[in-house]
Amino acid sequence: MVDITSEYLGIKLKNPLIASSSPLTGSLDKARELEDAGAAAIVLPSLFEEELIEDQEIMHGTLDFQAIGFGEADSFLPEIQLYQSHLDQYLEKAQAIKSSLDIPVIGSLNGRSLSGWLENAKLLEELNCDALELNTYHVSANIDDTAAEVESEYTLLVNELRSAVNVPITVKLSPQYSSLGNYIQQLQHNGANGVVLFNRFYQPDINLDTLRLEPRLQLSTPTEALERIRWIALLSKRIDLSFAATGGFHNASDVLKVLLAGGDAVYLCSVLLQRGPNHIKTLLSEMQAWLLEKEYESITQLKGSLCYEHSDDAITYERGNYLSVLRSYIAETE
Ligand SMILES: Cc1cc2nc3c(=O)[nH]c(=O)nc-3n(C[C@H](O)[C@H](O)[C@H](O)COP(=O)(O)O)c2cc1C
Repeated sequence: MVDITSEYLGIKLKNPLIASSSPLTGSLDKARELEDAGAAAIVLPSLFEEELIEDQEIMHGTLDFQAIGFGEADSFLPEIQLYQSHLDQYLEKAQAIKSSLDIPVIGSLNGRSLSGWLENAKLLEELNCDALELNTYHVSANIDDTAAEVESEYTLLVNELRSAVNVPITVKLSPQYSSLGNYIQQLQHNGANGVVLFNRFYQPDINLDTLRLEPRLQLSTPTEALERIRWIALLSKRIDLSFAATGGFHNASDVLKVLLAGGDAVYLCSVLLQRGPNHIKTLLSEMQAWLLEKEYESITQLKGSLCYEHSDDAITYERGNYLSVLRSYIAETE
């Protein structure tokens, strides 16, 4: 057997496969199945500040209504003491998952205000989460915001969080930054321990019958993996952070490519929703088979051997091959 252990955010992993945030990682039964199938760690579904705000609004509405008082109608209202908020439910479930798994559990946050990010980060740290992931789902829709303003919002956030919690922090990023490497360095200087490349953006569709917008959630396909592999190859050895890949990882060959590019972990979500937790077993045995065939003794031995700095053909990771790629297509059609 090849040694497939890896290290991510300073945490030793028995292999590089992590179950990414999804409804699977938020269910105690499914989380156990993921662990049994070989997941090295799981990331909890994000704790969304916006859901907590909605909850508070409902709660205040109920309290106001009771304060006004409508005599016997009061008895139809829910008992405040019995009301379990979204936050209570989330923390109860997360606690149950954390205490029943042996593998590391990474908490995930999606905030709206600085105080919200900070308070919720502390709550997840109190649950003994092994690390915190910041789910930064930012769409730059305001045309007056400069790139520097957008970036500083998150670098400042990481800076504040770094002083507030002791656990490792990783930032799940979008690919849409004009100078991604520089931005990731800023995150590192402000205290991030790792990055996750890349968050997937769900594209709203236009319904031609109703002429209305429709939110759409489509699961990923393996075509998305190469963009992640390229960026990990470009940055992994030049910025001293942990790198994880998310988005389009469905098969063992793409997982191996992330490792060759210098990545430390690969997140799985869509493929597990489609095929179930046991797909992890298949991926692990296919990875083992390839590593044995190529006579590797460990993942450490191959990690980063095809990153930008170590590849004989590094220019291919840049713009270098753009024209030849276009020409190769024309040649095929002649
Ligand atoms: C149903 C569903 C729920 C998700 N929930 C979250 C979430 O709460 N927080 C988060 O950071 N990502 C969430 N994601 C994104 C995944 O964790 C993952 O990063 C993304 O789907 C790309 O990986 P994949 O190609 O393996 O699906 C969700 C994805 C799906 C499909």
